[in-house]
Amino acid sequence: MKQERHLPKPRELAQLMRFKSFEFDGRARRLAKAHTIAELRAIAKRRTPQGAFDYTDGAAEAELSLARARQAFRDIEFHPAILRDVSNVDTSVEIFGGRSALPFGIAPTGFTRMMQSEGERAGASAAGAAGIPFSLSTVGTTSPEGVREANPQGRNWFQLYMQKDRDKSMSLVQRAADCGFDTLLVTVDVPVAGARLRDNRNGFTIPPQLTPSTVLNAIPRPEWWINFLTTEPLTFASLSQWDGTIGELLNELFDPTITFDDLAWIRDQWPGKVAVKGIQTVTDAKAVADMGVDGIVLSNHGGRQLDRAPIPFHLLPAVRAELGNDVEIVLDTGIMSGADIVAALAMGADFTLIGRAYLYGLMAGGREGVDRTIAILTSEITRTMKLLGVASVDELNPGHVTQLQRLSPIAREQRPAATSQATTPGRTVTQKRKAASAAVVSSVANPRRSKP
Ligand SMILES: Cc1cc2nc3c(=O)[nH]c(=O)nc-3n(C[C@H](O)[C@H](O)[C@H](O)COP(=O)(O)O)c2cc1C
Repeated sequence: MKQERHLPKPRELAQLMRFKSFEFDGRARRLAKAHTIAELRAIAKRRTPQGAFDYTDGAAEAELSLARARQAFRDIEFHPAILRDVSNVDTSVEIFGGRSALPFGIAPTGFTRMMQSEGERAGASAAGAAGIPFSLSTVGTTSPEGVREANPQGRNWFQLYMQKDRDKSMSLVQRAADCGFDTLLVTVDVPVAGARLRDNRNGFTIPPQLTPSTVLNAIPRPEWWINFLTTEPLTFASLSQWDGTIGELLNELFDPTITFDDLAWIRDQWPGKVAVKGIQTVTDAKAVADMGVDGIVLSNHGGRQLDRAPIPFHLLPAVRAELGNDVEIVLDTGIMSGADIVAALAMGADFTLIGRAYLYGLMAGGREGVDRTIAILTSEITRTMKLLGVASVDELNPGHVTQLQRLSPIAREQRPAATSQATTPGRTVTQKRKAASAAVVSSVANPRRSKP
């Protein structure tokens, strides 16, 4: 079709021209370009030496636990409801006796100042500003007092790895209690460190050592090294000096003899709420719930421990069905978007934790980078909830999600009968076997089961 044409007038061109004012702050300019957690990861990778980046990004062995957990969140279908008033969406939830403005908190991560020099202080202050909890690891690189200083008004949680030196562990727990930390997460999935093969290949030690290859790798990442060399040297609350890989350190420090009796003892020492982190079967979820803990964290440690471990998101409906509403369920591993968080809540989680999503933000831009992570997730959560037609987290239910399973168990009759090795106190062998089979059966849980 022939169209009439004319030469554009300067006034018309001027109307089309829009120039944004130049952002002189390099960090702000960089972060503004990230619209997803994956984009923050790409910035983090460019700016962090390979050893520290791989320590964070990597998982155990063939990294299948992590890849499958992330895939499970992608393999869902949402079911939206139409014509609901979603002009105002309330993303806040109640967790462990307090409010959180968003349905996620920051997971405990060790050695955080090695990833970026602002470390835990950046995480804690960003969490405080957003009204969400921050968790400090036993092998954190900031003291409980330092975290309280960074997040004086907000909620802080402490994560315990029981060390062989129990007095040392408990004195750190006491300091956290004295600093007003309100929840203790007891991590139970590290009887031995997972095989983090990237660290072995990179020869990654703490503190990082200057070798010809690390020096070469440092050249395009000067800011990280300047920060590392000119800020407070890395010290650990749990030890003063170490010269090996992180896996070797964990094996040296942690007590692999911990049992349910020790857990009961730890629970009695803590004045606030107690949750057990690293639950990976229905049987164990029930066992710790029966002990009277306040919550569990369904987690395979971000895929950093047992490879080919259960996918926490797939385990969730069966655990919720078993526990009812008696115990709060927190879920982590594999969360890379706000839609992942919404799906977890719909399938029965009360709350979620983010590990790498927080650390990618930190490595991409310190405190402002963590703010960016939280902003991205917040907008994704809010938008997903509106598109699903729900105005508050309580309205989410399993009817909003179908979990599509890529890998499903082979038919029961083709498998040997499951037996449980669980050393759950006070149970007969038959009870243990029954519980184990229930776990297997319910791992193919009905995705439409209602949240009780
Ligand atoms: C670099 C790194 C360090 C971690 N350190 C700890 C730790 O000290 N204690 C702990 O209980 N979990 C630790 N975790 C596991 C996290 O608390 C959380 O379970 C996991 O990161 C969730 O998976 P995601 O990274 O996919 O969000 C660590 C995870 C990462 C990535």
